Amino acid sequence: MHNRQIVLSRRPERLPEPSDFELRAGEVPSPSDGEVLVKTLQLSIDPAMRGWVVDTPNYMEPVPVGSVMRSFGVARVERSRHPDYAAGDLVVGAPGWQEWAVLGESELYWRVAPEQAPLSAALGVLGITGLTAYVGMVEIGRPRAGETVVVSTAAGAVGSVAGQLAAIAGARVVGITGSDAKCRICLDDFGFDACLNYRDTPDLGAAIAEACPDGVDVYFDSVGGAMLDAVLEHANIGARIPICGTISQLPGHQATGPRVERRLLVQRALMHGFLATDHFHRAEELTGRLAEWLDAGRLRHREQIYDALASAPEALADVLAGRNLGKAVVRVAEPG
Ligand SMILES: NC(=O)c1ccc[n+]([C@@H]2O[C@H](COP(=O)([O-])OP(=O)(O)OC[C@H]3O[C@@H](n4cnc5c(N)ncnc54)[C@H](OP(=O)(O)O)[C@@H]3O)[C@@H](O)[C@H]2O)c1
Repeated sequence: MHNRQIVLSRRPERLPEPSDFELRAGEVPSPSDGEVLVKTLQLSIDPAMRGWVVDTPNYMEPVPVGSVMRSFGVARVERSRHPDYAAGDLVVGAPGWQEWAVLGESELYWRVAPEQAPLSAALGVLGITGLTAYVGMVEIGRPRAGETVVVSTAAGAVGSVAGQLAAIAGARVVGITGSDAKCRICLDDFGFDACLNYRDTPDLGAAIAEACPDGVDVYFDSVGGAMLDAVLEHANIGARIPICGTISQLPGHQATGPRVERRLLVQRALMHGFLATDHFHRAEELTGRLAEWLDAGRLRHREQIYDALASAPEALADVLAGRNLGKAVVRVAEPG
């Protein structure tokens, strides 16, 4: 049996392109004590990957050139030498871009209940995406009824859930995203109150002022850079700014801009970075709450499914260029 794998063949100059990766045939590995052999079913495509393939300081070690690309995914345990897992268990873990993987304790995150929702949801609204939105919006942003909440990457996997969580709390939600079509989805599908297409808005600051006449109480920031500067100008006293991502900034090339400390001081505002990985141990609790809203029809989500392992590099390029509509997932094998 072969193990088809996608390896990082060189470090990208700017954003990762499909030509930075190579498909190869490897061996199916064998688990040692405390490990399991899993078959990869679906892979999560995350903007964070662009930070994992460059050699700059990050919260995870860079993927070595020539190694299998790191990736979260849903997998089925085929053979277990771990006391807590048995063949047939479905898990969210880090199998990487390959068909078969051996995972130890630190790469096995939580179990998936297949009866709860389609498997892809375990990477999206009931998985990493939902968990990120929940921690950032509910626990750091803490929106209250009547407040104004601005969400960036608003039509995307995390942003769409984060905005809906703010709406559930009774806030007025203003999305910022990269096309009129995505704005329509934010308004019609996700129920946002207003939406700005930043690519077609020459003066984003003026547009934010118009869309947020009472100022901004929460800014869920996944973009950084000039967009963050523009929103900060309208932050109210006591504003909360969860820093979820910095997708406008190339890793290792941080743009300069206005200094924020005076604005944060004067507005008594809180800016708080967070990582979903720090909360993976709470997945069951947090995704359970999200599942209740999903079942009650209060939460909607979109997915962009790519077929076959070989499409993973293209899926990543799409996400980074804004060509995805919803959570990008690569289907590697059928669960049955
Ligand atoms: N802190 C954490 O633990 C954590 C976990 C997961 C994700 N995140 C972050 O959350 C954000 C969204 O991730 P996701 O998985 O939900 O992906 P996503 O929003 O579904 O896809 C990424 C989106 O980013 C937008 N984008 C790309 N380049 C941009 C730029 N230069 N300026 C503004 N927007 C740009 C594009 O949408 P537009 O068409 O709107 O431009 C693209 O569709 C990312 O910043 C990611 O790093 C953080």
